[in-house]
Amino acid sequence: MSELAHGMLAGLAEIADTGRDSRRGGYSRHLWQGADLELRAWFALRAERLGLSVETDRNGNLWAWWGEPGPDAVVTGSHLDSVPGGGAYDGPLGVVSALEAVARLRASGFTPSRPCAVLVCAEEEGSRFGIACLGSRLLTGGIDADRARALIDADGITLAQAARRAGLDPAHLGADRDALARIGLFIELHVEQGRGLVDLGRPVAVASSILAHGRWRLTVTGQGNHAGATPMEDRRDPLVAAARAIVAVQDATGGHPGARATVGRLEVVPGGTNVIASSVHAWLDARAPTDAETRDLVAAIAAAVGEAAQVNGCSVAVTEESWTGTVTFDPELVGRFRSVLGADALVPALPTGAGHDAGVLAASVPSAMLFVRNPTGVSHSPEEFAEVGDCVAGIDALETLLRSLL
Ligand code: GLV
Ligand code: MN
Ligand code: MN
Repeated sequence: MSELAHGMLAGLAEIADTGRDSRRGGYSRHLWQGADLELRAWFALRAERLGLSVETDRNGNLWAWWGEPGPDAVVTGSHLDSVPGGGAYDGPLGVVSALEAVARLRASGFTPSRPCAVLVCAEEEGSRFGIACLGSRLLTGGIDADRARALIDADGITLAQAARRAGLDPAHLGADRDALARIGLFIELHVEQGRGLVDLGRPVAVASSILAHGRWRLTVTGQGNHAGATPMEDRRDPLVAAARAIVAVQDATGGHPGARATVGRLEVVPGGTNVIASSVHAWLDARAPTDAETRDLVAAIAAAVGEAAQVNGCSVAVTEESWTGTVTFDPELVGRFRSVLGADALVPALPTGAGHDAGVLAASVPSAMLFVRNPTGVSHSPEEFAEVGDCVAGIDALETLLRSLL
């Protein structure tokens, strides 16, 4: 199959209509729902056509093997799920590039001296069950299996129920030492989520580090009541309190250089036009360069949102839902990859504020990332983009690394 179709990577063109979200724009591809299932089937077909053997592990991650599975395999890939209303590149670019790099190696008659696999990690964005990098966290034991089984989606379906519907045994969710032991090294290629490469005028970088980050649920509690019958001075409206709390979140980053804090999702209970809400859930995403700075930021936010909510007679409870400490990719591996790909100045090492399965896997196996230039830096949005020439440069780089490693 040709690498390009209609001026874009052929693999991305093949899935360009899968999971389009006509309401939000962009794509909504969530774990084991329609679009994600279609993409999994597409991946299996694409990989099998290449001569790879495809399997699903105990946690719903997909593996396509060139040669016998592990040990000491060179594994490359990313994810196919998306944020709600996300772009076409975050995740799929890494999967398509991995398939393309393996296709090129096979077509050239290259014989690997160690196993190789393309990996698709499940629920990287956490858009259905709330925990980012769920598939890689389960694989590595980074989340307790009982806690994971009990996670619920927006329709009240547990992960255990969803796994069963997808053909997995929920009792087998969790740390998978055998699958992990097969990985000798993991490489994830990803569209850059920022403007580092644009500013440097280069198409491809190696990742140096990932900000510490996590998710917290802020539950603001007030008094549900009637919108017409309750005088303004008698209200304890948690949605007004949440509005103040969200401004407090933004203000709290002020004293924390390099920190980012976002509330991108709200749930108003019960959510009626003529009803003063009784509670509001607001999800906080907070990130900073170090673990300590992120913890300090979240402590400052917790204090600030509590004070802000009191103005409206409301209270706030803060619950941690996930946490990932700062990831520093192995400097020796980063240096080696940069020299394999060219002089250091040509292939920069860049930090990122975005989380990745490579960051989760890095705690257990040597891991590295390649970034492909994103002309605007916009990501998690339908506007996310990478020029086709830069995508091809990313595949060239991945192919070069695979050749040197296999
Ligand atoms: C994943 O893309 C994240 O950084 O949240
Ligand atoms: Mn993402
Ligand atoms: Mn991603």
